[in-house]
Order: sequence, then structure tokens, then C-alpha cells
Amino acid sequence: MPLTDAPAIVTARLGGPESWSLPAYLARGGYQGLRKALTMKPEDITAEVLASSLLGRGGAGFEAGKKWSMLAKARPAYLVVNGDESEPCTFKDHMLIEGDPHQIIEGTLICAYAIGAAQAFIFVRGEFALGIERLTAAVDEAYRHGAIGNDIFGSGFSLDLVVHPGAGAYICGEETALLESLEGKRGYPREKPPWFPAVKGLYAQPTIVNNVETMSNLPWIVLNGGAEFAALGVGRSAGTRIFSLSGHVNRPANYEVEMSKVTFRDLIYDPALGGGVRNGAQLKAFVPGGVSAPWFGPDQLDMPLDQDAVGKAGSMLGSGSVVVMDETTCMVRAAWRITRFFHRESCGQCTPCREGGGWLDKVMRRIETGAGRESDLELLIDVCDNIAPGLRWPPAKTTICVLGPSIPSSITSALNMFRDEFLLHIKEGGCPFA
Ligand SMILES: Cc1cc2nc3c(=O)[nH]c(=O)nc-3n(C[C@H](O)[C@H](O)[C@H](O)COP(=O)(O)O)c2cc1C
Ligand code: SF4
Repeated sequence: MPLTDAPAIVTARLGGPESWSLPAYLARGGYQGLRKALTMKPEDITAEVLASSLLGRGGAGFEAGKKWSMLAKARPAYLVVNGDESEPCTFKDHMLIEGDPHQIIEGTLICAYAIGAAQAFIFVRGEFALGIERLTAAVDEAYRHGAIGNDIFGSGFSLDLVVHPGAGAYICGEETALLESLEGKRGYPREKPPWFPAVKGLYAQPTIVNNVETMSNLPWIVLNGGAEFAALGVGRSAGTRIFSLSGHVNRPANYEVEMSKVTFRDLIYDPALGGGVRNGAQLKAFVPGGVSAPWFGPDQLDMPLDQDAVGKAGSMLGSGSVVVMDETTCMVRAAWRITRFFHRESCGQCTPCREGGGWLDKVMRRIETGAGRESDLELLIDVCDNIAPGLRWPPAKTTICVLGPSIPSSITSALNMFRDEFLLHIKEGGCPFA
């Protein structure tokens, strides 16, 4: 891992021959974390994860150990691993599922043992055909190896693990929509409260939902201890994290880096990482953490990849995707593309999201294609404000899930940073970048 001395934790085995197979996994220490975990008391594993300060890697950044501690006492309890990853420009879980499925399975088993789950599920985006093939084969191998099923490694602990393919909806990544989908229903996010599936989740039972990358950290944490993990990074932003870097960079890819010790500038410009902006062009702006996140400009390049620092600056690390936009980018088109995605993926239950997203899509299209008027800028702000009143960050909650209130981010970012570009589209009757 470049730039700091931190070890690669979740990507260590990637790139090796047949890294997805059981022999390759065992040859590199695979399932030793699970073997150790099964000799520990479940509550001691949770204590290690709490000490590690492992933050969820799915988007919200909630502390994993804290979430496990909130699991209601009713039984049976379930564990659901979220591998839906349908957010544009986020492609880290896809890589882990294809390249190191046994690591996810091992982490899932450790978590299931720690929380006392009766059964575990890994929900994988349906389009990940190769990933589902490899993960399913790995689950079969793990059953034969005695790592899943009855009396795992002779410990007395038993667990079944099911791989469940999604059916092509971004909204099924939202944890309560995912649970609906797992139950065989339409993937609609559930009304809150209850706020957490840990209280009432799958089949109305206590359920932990954690992301694929979150699970992948667990074998290392069990083997090395929570304190060792917490010693990497700074404060709450502990350990390492994969960032999916894309857009106008020379070396778009997934990079695992030490949190907080590496900045956006390092990620984008370091020769071992992004390698700089394509064709030597100037950086215009970047998305710091998934397409729901407010954008940053070049003045924020020295911000560390730290969850709280980015939050304080008015955005988020979110799903860990960083999208670079160079000086040739039309910011109206960029914001419109993101808005169109959210509008199409809205499940339609809430009026601000369903209708507001459609309005924004239409007005942005009008401006980009040359039929915009100056009053459209006020209209955009007005509609955004109706979806997320006050236009603050994090956004006010007006809807069942946070997809709706996230829609305005790209438009308000583009308007705040590049208002002149909108006016130029309107004045010239078309896109100046076309
Ligand atoms: C619209 C929407 C889509 C989401 N998609 C994903 C996803 O694909 N993968 C994921 O892990 N979390 C996704 N999340 C976050 C999950 O709801 C949940 O917070 C996460 O799976 C919890 O895991 P973690 O605590 O390990 O991060 C999404 C949330 C929303 C609102
Ligand atoms: S905010 Fe949008 S996606 Fe979320 S529940 Fe409401 S309509 Fe569905």
C-alpha cells in the first residue's frame, strides 16, 4: 500500500493466482481469523470490533461494533451482508466479491458468531454475474471445508449462509428495501421507526445489515486485535479504506489507503495512486464520496480522507467513490446526469423524491439542451428546497429514505460553484462544451 506504512488489509490477496479459490485463500492464512474467533466469547469479538472503531463502509459510516451492540435480544436474529453496490462510480465491493469472496464469507461467519445469528445472507447486485458465480462457488467450497454449516470447525457453532442475487434496482441497496426484497417483496424502503433493522429487520426479527467491505475487515481485526486497527488512521477514521477513483484521472482504479493520513490530493495526483488529471488538464471539481455527496473544488484537495473532516466541510466520504472532473467537463451536464440517475431510481413512494426528481431532471435537461431561461435557476433552487428544506448538509429528512433528500446535492453544488456556466448555457442557447 503506497504513501504510508499501513498494511493492505482487505486487498492483500487480490491479484494473486485464482485469489477467489479456497486453496489460494488457505495458502495466505485464510479462515485463521474464524478459527480464532470461535475460541473467543462472542461478546469479546464485539469488544474488539468496538475497540477497532471500524466504521461501516456502505455509506452512512456508522460504527460496526456499536451497531452490533444495539441488536435487540429477541431470537432468531439474522445477519445480512449488503453487496448491492449499484451507485454509479462505486466499484469496490464488486472487486472484493470477484477477487476475494472467501474473505467476505470469513468476515460474515465471524460477525454471525459474534451476534448469535441463526442464518446469514449475502445480497449481491444481480448484474455481478461473475461475482455471484465466484461467491456461490466459494460458499460451496467453504461448506465442504467445514467453515459453514453444522458444527463449524468442531466448535459447536452452526450457520447456514445464502447468496441472494438482487434484481436490478439501486434502491435495494438501502437496507430496509433490501430486507423487503429478501423477503420476496417489492424493494420499497420501510417507514421509520423502527430506525434500525437491529431492532426489527428481516422477518420482523433483529437483524444486522453490514456492507461487504465492512465484513472483509473482520478476519484481520480478530487476528491482529482492534487496537492494532485503531492505531491506523486518526481518531474515528481508523484502519484503511478502499476508494474507487474514477473520472478524468490517469489511473482510475480502487485504492486501499490509510484513512485520514492520505489526502484527496494524494489520491488524485500521487503517481502510485491516481497519477494526476488526464492530459495534464486542470482539476475543476470532484465528488468526494459517491454521487449523493456535495462536490468539492480544488481548494479542498488537501482535506484528509477522514469521515469527520469531510463531514464538517459539508460533504461526506459516503460510499468511498471519488469522481474527478477536469476543465473540459460541462458541470450542467454532470449534475443533470446524476439527477437523471436518481430520478429513474426513485421507488416512487414519496412525493418530494418522485415528483421533485422529475422536475429537476426536466429543468436540467432544458438548460443543457438550450431551451433554458434565467428564471430556471430560481426554479431549480425552489424545487431543491422543497425536497430538502433549508438545503443544508446533511439534508433535512422529508422522505422515507435518504435517496430523495440526496437528489439536490449535485445541482446545488454546480449552481454554487459554476453559476456562470448555467447562465452561459441559457445565453448561448446550448452547451458551450458540446
Ligand atoms: C439509496 C441507498 C442506496 C444504498 N446502497 C447501498 C449499497 O449498495 N451497499 C451498501 O453497503 N450500503 C448501501 N446503502 C447504505 C445501507 O442502507 C446501509 O447503511 C449499509 O448497508 C450498512 O452497512 P455498513 O454499516 O457496514 O456501512 C444505501 C443507502 C441508500 C439510502
Ligand atoms: S425517498 Fe425516494 S427512493 Fe426513498 S422511499 Fe421515498 S420515493 Fe422511495
